[in-house]
Amino acid sequence: MRLNFKLIPRLISKVTSKRSFKFVFLFLLILSPLAVAVAQPSITKAPFGKTADGPSVEIYTLRNRHGMEARITNYGGIVVSLTAPDRDRKFADVVLGYSSLDDYMNPPFPYFGAIIGRYGNRIAKGRFTLNGVEYKLAVNNGENHLHGGVRGFDKVVWTAEETKSAAGPALSLTYLSKDGEEGYPGNLRVRVVYTLTNNNELKIDYTASTDKDTVTNLTHHSYFNLAGEGNGDILDHRVVLKASRFVPTDAGSIPTGELKNVTGTPFDFLSAHAIGERINQDDQQLKFGNGYDHTWVINGRAGILRQAASVYEPTTGRVMEVWTTEPGVQFYTGNFLDGSRPGKSGKAYPRRSGLCLETQHYPDSPNRPNFPTTTLRKGATYRSTTIYRFSARRS
Ligand code: GLA
Repeated sequence: MRLNFKLIPRLISKVTSKRSFKFVFLFLLILSPLAVAVAQPSITKAPFGKTADGPSVEIYTLRNRHGMEARITNYGGIVVSLTAPDRDRKFADVVLGYSSLDDYMNPPFPYFGAIIGRYGNRIAKGRFTLNGVEYKLAVNNGENHLHGGVRGFDKVVWTAEETKSAAGPALSLTYLSKDGEEGYPGNLRVRVVYTLTNNNELKIDYTASTDKDTVTNLTHHSYFNLAGEGNGDILDHRVVLKASRFVPTDAGSIPTGELKNVTGTPFDFLSAHAIGERINQDDQQLKFGNGYDHTWVINGRAGILRQAASVYEPTTGRVMEVWTTEPGVQFYTGNFLDGSRPGKSGKAYPRRSGLCLETQHYPDSPNRPNFPTTTLRKGATYRSTTIYRFSARRS
């Protein structure tokens, strides 16, 4: 359609006449929610600071069609904020985090929103044997190795690349973990792609390859509070874990080797339970974990994307589903948070004010031949996908 420019002055005078002005105003008012609903997906970049050894760090803002927003930095691949709508379509930031890079770099860092690797969770005594060779890893959790060691993937600067996929805006992060880093064999090339899909999902695709046999177990460590970060504890959140068995541990959170049936235990989340309902029961496993801090064995076939969990927050109606190809999920109820350092909006993060659902292989798998293997052979490709899907319901 061609615009007749001669008509423009007439149009302007019409619009500025009182009645038409009212009409145009009303029309725009009706359209405004629709404008949000069909907003263009986008990704933008801004500086986020500098690390001590030089590389400058960026923060990327991903926005999907429905106005949902994720802010992700290439330092540690950290999800700094993530908004999700409640039952009245009101958005709130549902992950714990800090506002500055300095806060993220300042220990102790509870892994808020970070990519965890090379090995998420614990390896007993920081040792394992592969192809007859014993490897000694950094020991950083009592006598054990946790979350990749002293400088895991949560503390390195990743190379970022912005992409737009049909599914939504995406950020691709790559990192080369050198042979011997934190004691692991092989140069490991890792790629993590975060996509904020137009179905209100944060989708994480991990791939990795190595030039020497090694072990790999990557995960993501967001602490969720579906009432909004800093809005109290998560004890009233209702959780379903699609898992008939869990991985009992010793006092140091190292698996005993057994995969235990959840029936009749406070670990049975096959139907929905409030987190606080049984967390303080007189149960040895709960005592060892200081609450829930265990791996559940997700029902169904590992390697196939299936639902692992769902979480519902009754006051806002927010729901988060977790889907994954991994065999297990670590459900951690923020038992070690102590409120000592305020979060990004100045509110404290006391004990149990966030929950983690870290999809992964079972802890200490390199020393447990009966667990699904975490060995990555030279020439093979590690692949893993996890989706955090957000929605809301009335009750
Ligand atoms: C994991 C572990 C917990 C704890 C947190 C970080 O989820 O299982 O024991 O170390 O990370 O504080």
